Amino acid sequence: MRRALWIFAIVIVVVFLGMQFHQPNFGLEPVNPHATLEAQLHPDAQIHNALRRSCYDCHSAEVKVPWYGHVWPASVLLQNDIRKGRAYLDFSNWSNLSTEMGQIRLISACREMRGDEMPLWYYRPMHPGASPKDEDVEAFCSWVQTMRLRSGVAEVR
Ligand code: HEC
Repeated sequence: MRRALWIFAIVIVVVFLGMQFHQPNFGLEPVNPHATLEAQLHPDAQIHNALRRSCYDCHSAEVKVPWYGHVWPASVLLQNDIRKGRAYLDFSNWSNLSTEMGQIRLISACREMRGDEMPLWYYRPMHPGASPKDEDVEAFCSWVQTMRLRSGVAEVR
């Protein structure tokens, strides 16, 4: 019995070590400074900083990968979050969106923040201070609303 447990433990350790050869591909290309949300829409510093702090680790090419982000299995989870997150919303590639598509993404970003859905819950304990403050969320949402009115994009529900 004890022998079986030892063999089991050794198999687990070997699998864990073996999986470390699997290097994640986060797909982070160099940022084109003209293509970003900042370059395209010039949010003020409060909004810019709040988005950077709370959202950029999954919704931009400027992800700060923590040390455990290179350790399997965390690496695979992180890679999936970045891939999926950027497929929905990518602050580093704003110039390839039409005005309307950009507005729709910003409106849903406001909704996700107001509903406390984003950043994802499991990201928060590892990143204290990542939950946006209420006043930052409201500043962001009213900025989005002002732009929406200016661009004439209809309210999206
Ligand atoms: C830990 C990674 C992570 C962080 C940080 C994060 N997101 Fe996300 N976000 C995702 C993933 C993954 C998805 C893909 C859909 C899902 O799994 O819910 C997503 C989806 C979204 C969507 C699309 C939702 C939909 O269903 O249409 C919006 C909008 C969004 N995020 C906004 C934000 C905003 C705004 C912030 C910062 C306040 C943020 N996210 C922070 C990972 C993240």
